[in-house]
Amino acid sequence: MALRVGVVGGGQLARMMIAPAVELGIELRVLAEEERMSASLAATAVGDYRDATTVLEFAREVDVLTFDHEHVPQDVLAALVEAGVAVRPGPDPLQFAQDKLLMRARLQELGMPQPEWAAVTDAEQLRAFLDAHGGRAVLKTPRGGYDGKGVRVVSTAVEADDWFAALTEDARGGALLAEELVDFTRELAQQIARSPSGEVRAYPVVETVQRGGVCAEVIAPAPHAAGRLSDVAAHIGVGVAEGLGVTGMLAVELFETTDQRLLVNELAMRPHNSGHWTQDGAHTSQFEQHLRAVLDLPLGDSAPIATWSVMVNILGGPADGALDERFAAAMAAHPAAKLHTYGKAPRPGRKVGHVNAIGDDLDEVAYEARAAASFFVD
Ligand SMILES: Nc1ncnc2c1ncn2[C@@H]1O[C@H](COP(=O)(O)OP(=O)(O)O)[C@@H](O)[C@H]1O
Ligand SMILES: [Mg+2]
Repeated sequence: MALRVGVVGGGQLARMMIAPAVELGIELRVLAEEERMSASLAATAVGDYRDATTVLEFAREVDVLTFDHEHVPQDVLAALVEAGVAVRPGPDPLQFAQDKLLMRARLQELGMPQPEWAAVTDAEQLRAFLDAHGGRAVLKTPRGGYDGKGVRVVSTAVEADDWFAALTEDARGGALLAEELVDFTRELAQQIARSPSGEVRAYPVVETVQRGGVCAEVIAPAPHAAGRLSDVAAHIGVGVAEGLGVTGMLAVELFETTDQRLLVNELAMRPHNSGHWTQDGAHTSQFEQHLRAVLDLPLGDSAPIATWSVMVNILGGPADGALDERFAAAMAAHPAAKLHTYGKAPRPGRKVGHVNAIGDDLDEVAYEARAAASFFVD
């Protein structure tokens, strides 16, 4: 009988697990937030992932439960584990992807390099942090942020008045995360796959280009990173995966500083935008690897199949909303580019698809991916 994997969340990450699941004969089921989502091509139940009864009922039909996002509350995760559900990654590692303050404290215990940071509960504490860090800081809401939402560069404490007010209103209290404003030359991401029996595979470290807090492009492997830089990145990635006991795919977002250090920005414990290139540029895509890892199957080869891969996100989509019509034109102009679409309605800034290109010449590959992606945005 086919192994059954349940994915909580119906977004594009769940959607992109469907193709490798079909290939491997894995039955994929999705617990989606609503009807007609990205991943609704798979067998889909619709329900609230914050409701323990709903998720438990969904989990009863599968062998392993995994995620498209990190928002399932800890009490729901605890109820699942209590009921004997194989939850991968488990609640313990997941808390460090859910809460950036917990992550900073745990990474510090593990001795991982990271920006200087502090938990700040009021304007006074933020002022002290600013004074100690050259008058500027990056302030983050510890939970629920994504694509730059929940991240602010501040130089005065008043710029955070609304966030501190929200903290005061929240009965649970809590704190904001203040970080030094890192002087980085570029951002990198290191992906690691780890299975419950402890097998680990590292992907090559990649360069990620952010625009307005959103990932715009990824270059794999990161140029000029062979040798020390990629060794250090892999070492950090494996250290985090093993130190936190992650199962499945882990992405470690990194800053490369002007003085050539690598600092950990944040963690994701699921397939990640920085790994979409692996669909067409690696022996084993991150989506197949995630399924293998959470099922404790042997992991696949994570080596690239080309000298260079470039991934370009399609953000927003055409103003008239008709994404499909653009496909034929992009395909005709760029037959070697690989188009991926998420079945989502275009909205400004929304990730609705991406393009991958591979080859020997980085300039050519980047041109191919960008040119094909440009067909989808006005
Ligand atoms: N300490 C920092 N110093 C400089 N830039 C930062 C810092 N933290 C975050 N950033 C910038 O903001 C972006 C989003 O921050 P991140 O913590 O990754 O939030 P998100 O959860 O939205 O991805 C990062 O990719 C980086 O470009
Ligand atoms: Mg990030």
